[in-house]
Amino acid sequence: MSCKKKNKKEKKQKLQQWGLLHSITEGTKNFPLTQKRNSIGRYRKCNLVINQPKLSKIHCTITLEKIQNATEGRLDHIVYLQDHSTNGTYLNNQLIGKGNKVKLRHKDEITLNHCRLTHPTPKYGFLFDDYLLCPRATDESELSRIKLSPIIGKGGYGSVYLWEDFKTKTQYAVKVIEKIKVIDRKKEGHQPKHINYANEITLLKEIDHHGIIKLYEVKETDTEIYLFMEYVKGKTLLEYIIHKINKEKIPYTEKEAQKLFKNILKIVKYLHQKGIVHRDLKPDNLILTGSKTKTEVKLCDFGFSRIIPLDGNLSTKIGTEYYVAPEVLLGKKYGKECDLWSTGVLLYIILSGNFPFHPRREDNIDLQKQILDIDFYFYDGLFDDISPAAKNLINRLILGDPKSRLNAEEALSHSWVIGKGDLISDENYLISEEIIKRKKVQQKQREIRLLEKHNSSSFSDREESD
Ligand SMILES: Nc1ncnc2c1ncn2[C@@H]1O[C@H](COP(=O)(O)OP(=O)(O)O)[C@@H](O)[C@H]1O
Ligand SMILES: [Mg+2]
Repeated sequence: MSCKKKNKKEKKQKLQQWGLLHSITEGTKNFPLTQKRNSIGRYRKCNLVINQPKLSKIHCTITLEKIQNATEGRLDHIVYLQDHSTNGTYLNNQLIGKGNKVKLRHKDEITLNHCRLTHPTPKYGFLFDDYLLCPRATDESELSRIKLSPIIGKGGYGSVYLWEDFKTKTQYAVKVIEKIKVIDRKKEGHQPKHINYANEITLLKEIDHHGIIKLYEVKETDTEIYLFMEYVKGKTLLEYIIHKINKEKIPYTEKEAQKLFKNILKIVKYLHQKGIVHRDLKPDNLILTGSKTKTEVKLCDFGFSRIIPLDGNLSTKIGTEYYVAPEVLLGKKYGKECDLWSTGVLLYIILSGNFPFHPRREDNIDLQKQILDIDFYFYDGLFDDISPAAKNLINRLILGDPKSRLNAEEALSHSWVIGKGDLISDENYLISEEIIKRKKVQQKQREIRLLEKHNSSSFSDREESD
């Protein structure tokens, strides 16, 4: 066979179906994507021929490309949509523009004739299903078999399984939530009410950050909710701190902590810019992945995330007690500042391996009272070698008044985070009455090692709704 012929044959070679164009036009069929390059238009040699006068001969093309993922060493895929038309191809109602190429993502909408052209002709378009990304387990028996896979995590609402889609060989972390556990018992009739995962998936589709675990799909049965997520191989920050304390006797050096904390703040800043409050930031919800030399931190567990309501206030009592801000405990209106409180608690733990607030403290003070009184200490013996800059940052995050708390952006430019902490003297850090008051409290050594078995499961008071 001549080289030319062979190339031609290779080009036309069908791949396993890697996607679907799900028609949104009545009377038009779905189109399976099996070729590397798929052309759509009026021309009879297009892979998908649509005989509409407003369409160009080749209106647009959809191409699958594979690229090497440098950090994780695996082959990733990208799907491109290119506009070749005169009248325009639209992605999620945005004109692409002739000759331009954009990335096509799962559940994106492609329209070939936009609204102004639709009347009286119907709207021609598709929703794109990315089969390389999204599991196709659909029926109940297929879904329930996921629970035979190894468990990689357990949380308050159910287990997380490592499941491989045998059709695509893609691995997913699948969180299976039992609806019974999220029933709103306070409401009449005990009808299974679940957290609005339809909202969550729309919300998470908008999130594209390497520090945030991707949620690809949500499926539901009468009794369970299945969340199909990007699988991240690694340890949770909690497991990692315990491991480090056992091995090296200290949790993190300041230098290590600074790098890690900066990345956590960047994730929080990104979410807040998107108008999302996480509300459950804690070491169990952060996964460390990658190699010894290049560790990445990824945030999971969006069960409690919500877009901030327009008035900027939330009111549901939600979170995990050890990390929860006083305004949340008090049931007051609160906003994204509650996440910064939790990052302050996180930093305290990362540097000391202890909790600032703990139900079994030596002084027997009730956990909620400790939080409401901002009653925590930098214990002698644990914080002796920690720089004043680090302590200052903790003090400015674990701060009672949400308005005075640093926001993510301000925390990112704090002297400790940018690595200039040791240049400023301790005195300069006494920035508010609240902190001065706390400094005067006699500091006692009350070690509450993280190693101690603790129960930090999330709670949610669903009496109010946001
Ligand atoms: N995408 C993922 N990849 C790997 N492990 C995960 C993933 N998501 C969750 N886990 C593991 O499962 C645990 C529980 O998951 P999480 O979403 O936090 O559930 P819960 O809401 O019940 O706390 C996590 O602490 C982590 O160990
Ligand atoms: Mg969790």
